[in-house]
Amino acid sequence: MLSNQAGDGKRTSLHGHWSSKMAFILAVTGSAVGLGNIWKFPYVAGENGGGAFVLVYLACVIAIGMPVMMSEILIGRRGRRNPVATTELLGQEEGSSRNWRYLGMLGVTAGILILSYYSVIAGWTLSYIVKSATGTFVGISNIEVVADHEAFKANTGLVSMVHTLFMVITTFVVARGVERGLEQAVRFMVPALLLMMLALLGYSISSGYFGAGVEFLFTPDFSKLGWDGVLEAMGQAFFTLSIGMGAIMAYGAYLPEETSITGASATVVAADTGIAILAGLVIFPLVFANGLQPDAGPGLVFQTLPMAFGQMSGGAFFSTLFFVLLSFAAWTSAIGLMEPAVAWLVESYNRTRAQAAVIIGALIWLIGFGSVFSWNIWKDNTFFQGTVFDNLDFLTNQIMLPVGGFFIAVFAGWVMCRNSTADELGGTGTAYTLWRFGARVIAPICILIVLYFAISQVVA
Ligand code: PHE
Repeated sequence: MLSNQAGDGKRTSLHGHWSSKMAFILAVTGSAVGLGNIWKFPYVAGENGGGAFVLVYLACVIAIGMPVMMSEILIGRRGRRNPVATTELLGQEEGSSRNWRYLGMLGVTAGILILSYYSVIAGWTLSYIVKSATGTFVGISNIEVVADHEAFKANTGLVSMVHTLFMVITTFVVARGVERGLEQAVRFMVPALLLMMLALLGYSISSGYFGAGVEFLFTPDFSKLGWDGVLEAMGQAFFTLSIGMGAIMAYGAYLPEETSITGASATVVAADTGIAILAGLVIFPLVFANGLQPDAGPGLVFQTLPMAFGQMSGGAFFSTLFFVLLSFAAWTSAIGLMEPAVAWLVESYNRTRAQAAVIIGALIWLIGFGSVFSWNIWKDNTFFQGTVFDNLDFLTNQIMLPVGGFFIAVFAGWVMCRNSTADELGGTGTAYTLWRFGARVIAPICILIVLYFAISQVVA
């Protein structure tokens, strides 16, 4: 039996610790900033009419995202094990039940399912590095760029290959352990991505359609937003912040005792939201300037950006650089998606990290073919929400993450006693009071309301 009780009564992690507070913030930011910000946010905002969606998304980030993120980190640090063992341990320790482990299992499962399709889209990103570098997009027209993307997704062999490649590199890093490699990657990746987005913002401002983009993103028209859109906005808030499935809990387990959870959470939430909004401000003006449709769905950024780059001088270079950075962003997020399952396998079945990573990686890779085929051989086999990809996306983001987030907030707010949470959050000042109100009342109630109305609408 593994024991992680240190001599002073505080537990230590079995997987080592982050070397500093900065390392933790970078790792969580690396997990948060990914395809969710640059690929997903613009397309779901576009499909849901823009402004009203963005407003609801921002409200969810603040009212639900912040308290849930803090709850996840504090639970993780207090338990210092994988999410299944941590929820089980703390459930008992706080006088509730071992069955809280099912909350951890829900998270492990969500991570596996999300990564199965995340890897496919990340594979697209890898292909687009090569496409950019070989000049595919130089001077391409809007009709050609759409046709090129459609043909690409229909190429089963190629998409399978890049999905496989992405799972191999992700498994490799996870097998080596999170501290080596990951920290270095995010240290460079996040600032570089930000710079790149700022440079693109300049281009998008000069496109002459900046006003139209801003209007689309920030003028709320609530008649365009049903409860399904509100649920999608809430799901997006969870997805983009990496919360509700134990990734942040797993990272919290490696967090040094003295780091402020409130400060770290606020930094990550601000950085993540900032990058998503920036992506929207870059993409929508270019969509309108080039006569593309804002509701093009998952292919949106794979059409708009290559085309925009294709019109610029040095476009092939910048386009390549952009997709390299986006692949990095996806990579650092994918690691977070895998970590709970791998840490769980290591601790529960005494596997080495490498064995656990290969087993979980292979499982995710296999499930991923459901999404690979969603744009080609199984394209017309639709059920419930659409293709396999559509259903996985709906099930994970709009059901599993909010349900996970609900129970995480309830666990930290109601099951854990005041002393334990105050101990982790550093006292009972204003920040603590705000967090506790958020975790006990606001987050659970908002999640329930949205789930209730959205599900009654989907079922009706
Ligand atoms: N937050 C990541 C993104 O926006 C996705 C993710 C979700 C990563 C959950 C880890 C855990 O791309």
